[in-house]
Amino acid sequence: MTAYKISLIPGDGIGPEQTEATIRVLERVREAFGLNLEFVWTEAGDDCNRRRGSALPDDTIRVLETTDACLKGPVGETAYDVIVNLRQMFDLYANLRPSRTYPGLKCLDPDTDLIVVRENTEDLYKGLEFEVGSSVIALRVTTSMACQRIASKAFRIAELRNRRKLVTAVHKANVLRKTCGLFAATCREEAKRHPDISFEEMYVDAAAMNLVRKPAHFDVLVTTNMFGDILSDEAAAVVGGLGLAPSGNIGEEFALFEPVHGSAPDIAGKKIANPTSMLLSASMMFEWLGEKFGDSKCGAAAHSLEVGVIQALADRITTPDLGGNHTTQQVAEAVAERIPLEVIG
Ligand code: NAI
Ligand code: MG
Repeated sequence: MTAYKISLIPGDGIGPEQTEATIRVLERVREAFGLNLEFVWTEAGDDCNRRRGSALPDDTIRVLETTDACLKGPVGETAYDVIVNLRQMFDLYANLRPSRTYPGLKCLDPDTDLIVVRENTEDLYKGLEFEVGSSVIALRVTTSMACQRIASKAFRIAELRNRRKLVTAVHKANVLRKTCGLFAATCREEAKRHPDISFEEMYVDAAAMNLVRKPAHFDVLVTTNMFGDILSDEAAAVVGGLGLAPSGNIGEEFALFEPVHGSAPDIAGKKIANPTSMLLSASMMFEWLGEKFGDSKCGAAAHSLEVGVIQALADRITTPDLGGNHTTQQVAEAVAERIPLEVIG
């Protein structure tokens, strides 16, 4: 039986509450599918910075290097030092952020099922900011290599999805002629290699509007780092809120899964954080492990975790952000109970 080593970063704010709830569900998944999972706890974030003087200590990086994948809770003000750094350090170049509607939830259009494929290593998030006299300057970095690999990833995802087979490249090439120009041209070239997939381009301001005006129009949105950051929070709100939104930061050999949202200091410690974003991130992790190691058990675990989430939502066992009055742990318990116990696969 393949053994999977998973590093766990609980993070800050609601992160530890979500992680505790997720572990409860993962234990049920491990039991149900006979998966050999080893959790390696490590740390990063504001609290870690306060205690150890570093938001991302070297020993945390070493732990990640020895595991197959990482599951991370949100961190707080040190998000740049932690997650933006990890994405660049481990070359996790594709940030996959799906948004789809689930039963019983308020959403703008029940047919919404889209995925934002966000370039994850470049753009203004390189953090190249300089003071020049009394002014400040930020550099926007766009390489053809990064454009190429994210465009190619988006088309491969569109091919695998049972949806509209449509890739929408979101940019602002009418203004940012060099940087967005290169991104748009690369997507256009990639589209020629995938005649089976429809392709369109949309300026980011129009895309922001269309996401609320006609969200079901979209299938795969491919975009640059900062636009993807902004649009994926919007896409989450369109289908019910950030508490549902999972993500995967995917590289060639390693991947890190985390909620789209931050540490939610306004509700931290109240035991009402929605654990769903982290549970669905764990589901994405199993899917990735299943594909990487050719293990159908992981694929089945990914699917059943999502089914458990859907059934708990359908039974209206939800936290206050979705209109319910259940706690984080009660939602996790409900999801765990809805995961089949027999070994499949
Ligand atoms: P946020 O995403 O933490 O919260 C925005 C709103 O959504 C808040 O009202 C919050 O209560 C709600 N919310 C988020 N997740 C929820 C959940 N699971 N259940 C119920 N409600 C939820 O955004 P904010 O307040 O701008 O950022 C807080 C901190 O998070 C900042 O310090 C920021 O740097 C950090 N951050 C970290 C990220 C990461 O670790 N990848 C990503 C984004 C922000
Ligand atoms: Mg964000």
